[in-house]
Amino acid sequence: MTRIRKAVFPVAGLGTRFLPATKTIPKEMLPVVDRPVIQHVVEEARAAGIEHFIFVTGRGKGAIEDHFDDAYELNAVLEQRGRKEDLLRLKSETPKPGQTSFTRQQEPLGLGHAVWCARELVGNEPFAVLLPDMLHDDATPCLATMIADHAHHGGNVIAAYSVPKEETHRYGILDLAGAAEGTPKIHGMVEKPKQGTAPSNFAISGRYILSPEIFKILETQHRGAGNEIQLTDAMVTLMQSQPFYAHLFRGRVHDTGHQLGFLTANIAYALKRDDISQALRTALKDLL
Ligand code: UTP
Repeated sequence: MTRIRKAVFPVAGLGTRFLPATKTIPKEMLPVVDRPVIQHVVEEARAAGIEHFIFVTGRGKGAIEDHFDDAYELNAVLEQRGRKEDLLRLKSETPKPGQTSFTRQQEPLGLGHAVWCARELVGNEPFAVLLPDMLHDDATPCLATMIADHAHHGGNVIAAYSVPKEETHRYGILDLAGAAEGTPKIHGMVEKPKQGTAPSNFAISGRYILSPEIFKILETQHRGAGNEIQLTDAMVTLMQSQPFYAHLFRGRVHDTGHQLGFLTANIAYALKRDDISQALRTALKDLL
């Protein structure tokens, strides 16, 4: 079984639901507690053994590239001020030289198109895709479990989580033929099904392990829902020739791409921090 070494992070979207904050700041750089959303997701990938981090960026996303670089002047100032711990933490969180690659989508034509833009950097091996605005909060990192699933049965793996029935029309939904345990085979998937027609209440949560054959399909993929080139549509085609399995994620998923999800994620992650949780509880009680 080929080991999963590479992960693609599509970060070329416009983040229109977060305007005006995202007029000049990439939405992936908005902080959850004290680190950008994208860093939480890169850390999940690193914890799962990913060695090469591929970012599909666009105009105005330069801050992401700078964030994963060594900040020479900042390091010098921290050193001068004797802030050794901060310096060591920053250094340990920065990918090693050569571990990151950046390519541009040029036009935000959709998630499927963004993934296709990474084809030359991924090459002919299975790879992971992580949507940076979806935080997966669990003691075991979501991608690590998916990689273990992949090592076990190969094929393609998609993470999914349970959402309320009345909200299924907002998500990509999996058809699991009634299965709701373990790593069931996926029989189909539909992007934003009409109310009452969803084949299950398991929504795609933004973590994928895909075989490289997806690129050939994406190359000729027509626009779908929202007039965008959809990854889901290409996966449906690939499903005709390759097996797909679901990883049913039981932790908490935070969609930080909209205000409520972003604020909830900040509170949830802050409540887990020993240094601020107590003070935050007091502040929240006070506010409420
Ligand atoms: P979203 O649809 O959540 O991001 O895409 P968006 O388009 O930036 O958000 P809104 O709706 O305008 O607020 C999920 C992920 O896919 C990336 C986004 O950057 C985000 O991380 N994406 C989306 C691309 O890289 N390219 C695209 O063409 C579309």
